[in-house]
Amino acid sequence: MDGFQVMPLAERRRGGHRDHTVTGNLNVIDSQHVKAFKDGAIICNSGHFNDEINIPSIEEQSLGKRRVRDFVDEYQMPGGRRIYLLGEGRLINLAAAEGHPAAVMDMSFANQRSGLSNIVKQGKALKNEVLQRPRGHRPRDRAPEA
Ligand SMILES: NC(=O)c1ccc[n+]([C@@H]2O[C@H](COP(=O)([O-])OP(=O)(O)OC[C@H]3O[C@@H](n4cnc5c(N)ncnc54)[C@H](O)[C@@H]3O)[C@@H](O)[C@H]2O)c1
Repeated sequence: MDGFQVMPLAERRRGGHRDHTVTGNLNVIDSQHVKAFKDGAIICNSGHFNDEINIPSIEEQSLGKRRVRDFVDEYQMPGGRRIYLLGEGRLINLAAAEGHPAAVMDMSFANQRSGLSNIVKQGKALKNEVLQRPRGHRPRDRAPEA
């Protein structure tokens, strides 16, 4: 929504030093990407558990590993390259920071509930495009409890 282009890593033309996965998908950073990383690449994940980055593949390819500071593991790779994995590939904002305050989670679930409610009410009439959620799902708008 902020205009960033989403694409598979292999199709990327620029960058290669900082990669942060947040896809919900498995092995998004995989063996072939690990081989192509430049020296000093930093990788982390905020998506699904710790399996968006293929860590076993990094371990297999690496010649050694050391913890350079809390939440930062340096892998020594062939050719003298170093790769830095943050937070053991786990959700970095939870593993290395304070996670989400309850108020943020409340807002997130309230927004999802409101969006789903709108789909249930007007699903067939909605256009296939990015839509604004309707405002004003206050408790008094709800149907009376049976
Ligand atoms: N850490 C957190 O605080 C936090 C918060 C919200 C969601 N999540 C997690 O983040 C993940 C994504 O959630 P979402 O709601 O943004 O999902 P989403 O489906 O809206 O977005 C995921 C995006 O990743 C893209 N994608 C999938 N595979 C890819 C690949 N191989 N290469 C490049 N792009 C790829 C998809 O096309 C999609 O645009 C989920 O696992 C969710 O649980 C984490």
